[in-house]
Amino acid sequence: MSVHKKEVKRVTTHVLQAMKHNGEKISMLTAYDYSMARIIDEAGIDVILVGDSASNVMAGHETTLPITLDQMIYHAQSVVRAVKRSLVVVDLPFGTYQGDSKMALKSAIRIMKESGAHAVKLEGGTEIKDAIKRILSAGVPVMGHLGLTPQSIYKFGTYTVRAKEEMEAKKLQEDASFLEKLGCFGIVLEKIPAELARKVSETVTVPIIGIGAGGGVDGQVLVSHDLMGLTKDFHPRFLRRYLELFDTIKGAVGQYIDDVKSGDFPNEKEQY
Ligand code: KIV
Repeated sequence: MSVHKKEVKRVTTHVLQAMKHNGEKISMLTAYDYSMARIIDEAGIDVILVGDSASNVMAGHETTLPITLDQMIYHAQSVVRAVKRSLVVVDLPFGTYQGDSKMALKSAIRIMKESGAHAVKLEGGTEIKDAIKRILSAGVPVMGHLGLTPQSIYKFGTYTVRAKEEMEAKKLQEDASFLEKLGCFGIVLEKIPAELARKVSETVTVPIIGIGAGGGVDGQVLVSHDLMGLTKDFHPRFLRRYLELFDTIKGAVGQYIDDVKSGDFPNEKEQY
């Protein structure tokens, strides 16, 4: 098993920039609670994303839209308590930044103040430039997110690969350069053709982290529940499962139920 900590004591946005410069790939995973964040941080992950995918995998919603700012702050607080090394990035949830840059700044400041996280992530390009500018002006590091942006699922209509058509690919490339110029420290590219993602990564100087965007980018992110097989019915091509925890945990719980019912648990040594 690889525990990849290197010499870095605390991962910062500057460390990520240096990693891109040196050609060292960046590892990023989601976490939403103390116990999982502790394991992932100890394993040596570079970036922990408190993603609004918490809406799906923690709360059971169909989309990321329902999760609130208070709920994101609760998840972020739990993660930050566990983390010693990773950079912690928190998603601004749907409805807390679009169309009102003052509200965006307020939302970002609440996340930073109340959770102790290190950066925020926002979905979108030029259309949210005022929000990004205002947050950056307060000294809060911002990560962009382009391609498949799940908060816009009702605009897209499906979760299929984005930017396959030339016009959308061009807009994505322009948006990536735009986010870099605004001052974003990194950009997530979700579910776009690998060749396009590689081009963006070569064009912009900030780290590009892909999910379903191929190997030509500067790092990879996955939802930890997917990687560990805690989710059962999600099998996109880009996902590599490292465990089948749904079945493992179900088996263990089944065994526990049998042991309780049969009187095998607790035994002589498991009591006072
Ligand atoms: O919310 C999330 O988990 C994300 C990743 C898929 C990048 O935004």
